Amino acid sequence: MWKDKDISIENILKDEVPNHIAIIMDGNGRWAEKRGLSRSNGHREGMERVIEIVKSSVNIGVKHLSLFAFSTENWKRPKKEISAIMNLLVVFIDRQLKRLVENDIKLNIMGDISELPEKSRKAVEIAVKKTNNNKKMILNIALNYGGQNEIVYSIKKIFKDIEKGIITIDEINEKKVYDYLYTKGQPDPDLLIRPSGELRISNFMIYQIAYTEFYFSDVLWPDFVEEEYYKAILDYQKRNRRFGGI
Ligand code: IPE
Ligand code: IPE
Ligand code: MG
Repeated sequence: MWKDKDISIENILKDEVPNHIAIIMDGNGRWAEKRGLSRSNGHREGMERVIEIVKSSVNIGVKHLSLFAFSTENWKRPKKEISAIMNLLVVFIDRQLKRLVENDIKLNIMGDISELPEKSRKAVEIAVKKTNNNKKMILNIALNYGGQNEIVYSIKKIFKDIEKGIITIDEINEKKVYDYLYTKGQPDPDLLIRPSGELRISNFMIYQIAYTEFYFSDVLWPDFVEEEYYKAILDYQKRNRRFGGI
C-alpha cells in the first residue's frame, strides 16, 4: 500500500517516466448514477479529468498520451448519451485548443471521424490542423475507435499499397504493420491504465499493447485525479520489464 506522502510527483523517477501512456477512461456513467445524476453529468466530470491528466502528463514528461474517448461499440448507447459525448468533444476543444497550442501538444485522432456528427468532426479537424507541427507531446484521442477495426483498416491499406506497387508482400512484417496504424511513427504504450474496476481491454490498441504494462484501478474515471495517476506511474516504475528476455 502507498502511504499518502509517497504519492507525489516528486517521487516519480524522472528518467523512468513511461514514454507512452494509454488510458481507457471508463466509469463516467456509474459515477453519475451513484450520485443520482444523469450519465451525461458523469461524462462532463470525466472531461475535467482529461484536462487535468493532460496537464500532469506534460509536467511529468510523458511524450505520448493515448485516451480512449469513444469506441466503435459505443454507438449502441442511447442517442441522448451519444450526443452528450459528441457535444463535450466540441466543448473540450473550445476550452483547450489554445492550451494545446501553447504547450506544444500535437493532437492525433485514432479512429474514423467521418462518422462523427458534423460539428464534432469539424472541431476535431481544426484542432488537428492547428496543432499539427507541435512537438512536445502527442495526444492521441480515440474516437469511433476499435482495435480490431484499426487492424482491418490497416490490412486494407496494405493491400492497396501492394496493388499500387508501393510495397511487396515480402516487405510486410510486424514492424511494417505499424506504418498502417493510427499511431504511425509512435512507440507502443509502456503503461495502460484502466480505471473503474473492469479487468478487460475493450478492444483498445490491441496491436500496440503486446508488451505493455497494465494498471487496473477501482477508481471511476471522474475520480481519477492527479494522485491516482501518480500512483499508477509509481507502480509501473517498480516493475521489471523483460520483453521475453531474462
Ligand atoms: C466511459 O464511461 C466513457 C465512454 C465509454 C464514452 P462509461 O460511460 O462507460 O461509464 P460506465 O462504465 O457506464 O460507468
Ligand atoms: C471502453 O469503455 C471505451 C471507452 C472508455 C471509450 P466501455 O464502457 O465501452 O467498455 P465495456 O463495455 O465496459 O467493455
Ligand atoms: Mg463503461
